[in-house]
Amino acid sequence: MNYLSALNFGTNLLKKTKIKSHSLDAELLLAYVSKFSREKLLINLNKKIKEKILYNYKLNLKRRKKNEPIAYILKTKEFWRYSFYVNKNVLIPRPETEIIVEELLKKISFESSKKLLDVGTGSGCIIISIIKDRPKCYASAIDISKKALNIAKFNAKMHHLENKIKFINIDIDKYIHNKYDFIVCNPPYINNIKLKRLDENVRLYEPHLALKAGNDGFDFIRKLIFKSKILLKKNGKLIFEIGEKQEEKSKYLLNNNGFYIDKICKDMNLNPRVIISTKTF
Ligand SMILES: C[S@@+](CC[C@H](N)C(=O)[O-])C[C@H]1O[C@@H](n2cnc3c(N)ncnc32)[C@H](O)[C@@H]1O
Repeated sequence: MNYLSALNFGTNLLKKTKIKSHSLDAELLLAYVSKFSREKLLINLNKKIKEKILYNYKLNLKRRKKNEPIAYILKTKEFWRYSFYVNKNVLIPRPETEIIVEELLKKISFESSKKLLDVGTGSGCIIISIIKDRPKCYASAIDISKKALNIAKFNAKMHHLENKIKFINIDIDKYIHNKYDFIVCNPPYINNIKLKRLDENVRLYEPHLALKAGNDGFDFIRKLIFKSKILLKKNGKLIFEIGEKQEEKSKYLLNNNGFYIDKICKDMNLNPRVIISTKTF
C-alpha cells in the first residue's frame, strides 16, 4: 500500500464514523506515525508505506474512531505561539483561553517584572505563554492534580522555563503564600447537569477535575474570588475565564468581594468569556 491509499483508507474510515474533520485527522495521524511534516507527507504520496507504520496508523485511527481527541493521540496542542505536550491528565488548551494571555500581555510591558499566579495550571499553557513573552516576570503556578502539574513542569522544561516558574501541587483552598500583581485562571466551570451533556469527546476523555464545578458551576469561581482577595496586592488584577451565562453572577460575586470590573472580553462567537477585575482595597 502507498501513502495515498493509506490516506484514503483513513479518511473513509473516519468519515463513516462521522468524524467531521476526517480528511485532516487522517492526514495528521499518518504524518505523525511516519514522523513526517504534513508537507513531506504530501510529496511522498506515491511511496510504499512500511508495515510497522501502517500498523501504528491503524491503531491511532481506531482511537480516533472512538472519538478520542486528536490532541491526545498526537500528544500535542498549539496554544498562543507555542506547542504543548498534552495527555489525558490535562485539559486540552482551548483557543478562547488565549484571550487571558492576550489581555495580560497588554497590561505588562516587556521590561516589567510583575509577580503572577496561575491557578489550576493544567498543561501550564497560560503561564508558560506569558513568561515566554514577558521573561522578567516572576511566576507561580498551582494545581490540585499532581499528574497535571508534572505535565506543566515538563512543558516548562521544553520551553526552557523550568527555573522561572514555581510549580506547586496544592488545593487553591490551602494556598496562602505571597502577594501577587496578577492572578490568572481558567477555572473548572461546568455545572453537574451540563457535565452529563457534554460532547462525548470531552466527557469521556478530558479530566473531570478540570471541568466540574458543582450544582451551579460556580464552586471553583467562588473559591477563586475569595482567595484572590487575600493573594492579590491592592490594585492587583484577577483575570479569569467564564462559561456560558456566567457573566452576571461572576460580576456580582466580584463586586461583593471588593473587586472593580475593568472589562469583559468576548470570544469569537461573541460570548462573554474573560473577566478582568481589580482588587480595590
Ligand atoms: C479548566 S482546567 C485549566 C487548565 C489550563 N490552565 C488551561 O487553561 O488549559 C482547570 C484546572 O484546575 C485544576 N483544579 C481543579 N480543582 C482545583 C483546586 N481545588 N485547586 C487547584 N487546582 C484545581 C484542575 O486539575 C485543572 O488542571
